[in-house]
Amino acid sequence: MSLPILKFDAVVVGGGGAGLRAALQLSEAGVKTVVLSKVFPTRSHTAAAQGGISASFGNSEEDNWHWHMYDTVKGADWLGDQDAIEFMCKQATDAVAELEHYGMPFDRLENGKIYQRPFGGHMAEFGKKPVRRACAVADRTGHAMLHALYQRNVKAQTHFFVEWMALDIIRNANGDVVGVTALEMETGQVYIIHAKAVLFATGGSGRIYQASTNAFINTGDGVGMALRAGLPVEDIEFWQFHPTGLAGAGVLITEGVRGEGGYLLNANGERFMERYAPTAKDLASRDVVSRAMQVEINEGRGCGTNKDHVLLKLDHLGAEVIDQRLPGIREISIQFLGIDPVKQPIPVVPTCHYMMGGIPTNYKGEVLDGVDEKVVSGFYAAGECACASVHGANRLGTNSLLDLVVFGKSAGNSVIDFVKATPEHKELPENAGAYSLERIAKLESTTGEKVADVRRDMQICMQQHASVFRTQKALDEGVVKMREIYERAKNVVIEDKSKVFNTARVEALEFLNTVEVALATMIAASVRTESRGAHAREDYPDRNDEKWMKHTLYYRDGQRLEYKEVHTKPLTVDYIPPAKRVY
Ligand code: FUM
Repeated sequence: MSLPILKFDAVVVGGGGAGLRAALQLSEAGVKTVVLSKVFPTRSHTAAAQGGISASFGNSEEDNWHWHMYDTVKGADWLGDQDAIEFMCKQATDAVAELEHYGMPFDRLENGKIYQRPFGGHMAEFGKKPVRRACAVADRTGHAMLHALYQRNVKAQTHFFVEWMALDIIRNANGDVVGVTALEMETGQVYIIHAKAVLFATGGSGRIYQASTNAFINTGDGVGMALRAGLPVEDIEFWQFHPTGLAGAGVLITEGVRGEGGYLLNANGERFMERYAPTAKDLASRDVVSRAMQVEINEGRGCGTNKDHVLLKLDHLGAEVIDQRLPGIREISIQFLGIDPVKQPIPVVPTCHYMMGGIPTNYKGEVLDGVDEKVVSGFYAAGECACASVHGANRLGTNSLLDLVVFGKSAGNSVIDFVKATPEHKELPENAGAYSLERIAKLESTTGEKVADVRRDMQICMQQHASVFRTQKALDEGVVKMREIYERAKNVVIEDKSKVFNTARVEALEFLNTVEVALATMIAASVRTESRGAHAREDYPDRNDEKWMKHTLYYRDGQRLEYKEVHTKPLTVDYIPPAKRVY
């Protein structure tokens, strides 16, 4: 069956911060660009980013990008690529100023400069004391960023296909990427989008876990598609657990609360972070705080009837500060738990928040295949779905929004160069689209399991076997269980076979991506016998640079792993050598 073909210079898959920043760069350069988005762009998961975007303006106290770079390298536990980290931190102030000029309504200091708050792991003088580096729009920074970028794209006449889901990457016989297949949800029609360049900005996949701050749309679509197209995923064993997910609901309570002076308490009323991170305390990096909370809970100092959470105290900040700086989390806490933080502390638990790994790229956004980092012609990625790798084994808060705009723009620039150098579209392979249609047809078989059942088992398995703390036994059992779940996923079916707005079909297709990410995570984690950043092994408590200072590459074909070198040459400054990571 031949599918309708739509032709663009560039297709951007994903309408969040990275996709919108990339699309803006492209449209302003006159590249005919379409953005495919599962949801209306301003409802993308970037909207959930609360606390800020990092940039070393030093608006309240001295700061500079070298310190930001040092913090990011250290936060990443030396698994980040230092060329990419330098690139990002050096550009941060320009990137934020650009957003401001796009109309992003940052909070202000009395003198009119952008308001900045402290955030976990961001320090002055190479790790000596917390510094104000997070540029904030109250606690709705991502939301404000999305609106500013979307409006600029409308002005630049970017095309948007809203409520479209990309299904599969189309590669020609050389392995070059020449387009994607995509489902228009409204009609159920599958299209081929034929493009000179494909840029993925599909976001994360926090829905592999049971408890997650992530939106329901964060289903690892980009990684799933890349794996099915024979490409690897990098460092997928590293998942960030945000210390302050709302207990029971998982919704994010921004680290900005601690940035403004809030702190964590155990059941004894003790400010326990003083024991774990004497200098940074509650503003240590996220993996450190999450582990400390989990230890408190595991050792019986958790709060509540079930002793299963700790408390985030902020009432001492006063209603005025809370309403000015943290209005969103006050509303969330009241709505979900009936707790007003102006009067009572908020119950919080570590909750899956961010995928450090992703589709391997360089800092130009070009997708790389293999240990020798061969550039995949026509394929680019940016944002959470990509691994540049700036976050290494653990991301610092507020470096995500920065990553979106810095690498969205640089990937956009790479696409512009590629499109200019590629006068004609490369031919589509003869069978383009057939694979996607087969995958959809398989979902309509008469016998098989329900998506919801297999997805639930996957999420439970990930939560039990690959959470904040990990052991060989738990991971090995997790691999066995995940392989069974992966086999079951091949036989999921949908009852509703209608075409128009068939959300069951969309959910099934999303799940087939999510399960790829989950299996990759479990396998990669089971092999890394060290503790680094967010990968905390109880049985291997130390970082092992000699054996493990290397990036994991997982391939779907044969479920195999390869390892490649960490980039140790920054662009212009000296290498920051590994050191013990203390806060
Ligand atoms: O805590 C937060 O506001 C989250 C920010 C981030 O993940 O960068």
